[in-house]
Amino acid sequence: MLRIIAIDGPAASGKSSTAGLVAERLGWAHLDSGALYRALTLAALDNIGDAGRGTLKGMGREGWSGPRIVALAEQLPVRLVLLDDVFRPEVAGVDVEEAIRSDRVTRHVSGLAAIPEVRAWVNARQRMAVEGLEVGGGSGGVVVDGRDIGTVVFPEAPLKIFLTATADERARRRLSQRGQTVDGELVRRESQALAARDAADSNRPIAPLKPAPDAVLLDTTALTLEQQVARVVELARGRFPG
Ligand code: DC
Repeated sequence: MLRIIAIDGPAASGKSSTAGLVAERLGWAHLDSGALYRALTLAALDNIGDAGRGTLKGMGREGWSGPRIVALAEQLPVRLVLLDDVFRPEVAGVDVEEAIRSDRVTRHVSGLAAIPEVRAWVNARQRMAVEGLEVGGGSGGVVVDGRDIGTVVFPEAPLKIFLTATADERARRRLSQRGQTVDGELVRRESQALAARDAADSNRPIAPLKPAPDAVLLDTTALTLEQQVARVVELARGRFPG
């Protein structure tokens, strides 16, 4: 069986950076499930959303309905493509790894991720991607990050990590990543935006953000990226010897 590490946690907790570096050090593949939700959001905004009603709230069943988004995803298609051990999101044959990080996508993604049909589609794609690795046999394992990887998508993963950090610390990291000044007022605003997205992701009825019962909780507030990566690699070496 393929070796899987599930890394979950709130927005800007460093999941994807940590997962990517851990995968690199272990020589494993990396799958960022949020990228698939973001690619679907980008596809929906560009193909269904109209400029005047650019918010999810304003769209009824005929707009951003689950079946319509899934049909669009199949038709374009929205896909994960494995390139050098990293699954990259693609829409209609175009790599969208950069485009999916825009504020416009970030503002709409939680709404889309709360739609049950969309989650079922994304989960199936993730499982297929990982099965493909197993069949191909090229990777020693895969590190998957998201919100529900340890609880819903791969509950059988032998190592599950739940990363946390205070909202203020996550806001500071996000601002400095973007090259913005980390001043008090900006931190406060960013921290509020993150907390709102966490609340939306944690309070939705389907697959809410929460640690799996057997997840290792890792509070990264006082850790550097290097320290958190080293800690996960150490746990991985213990759990997957050889
Ligand atoms: O990790 P991220 O910020 O790129 O994720 C974008 C959104 O996708 C996030 O607000 C919630 C959703 N998401 C999810 O519901 N389940 C996942 N496994 C991954 C992401």
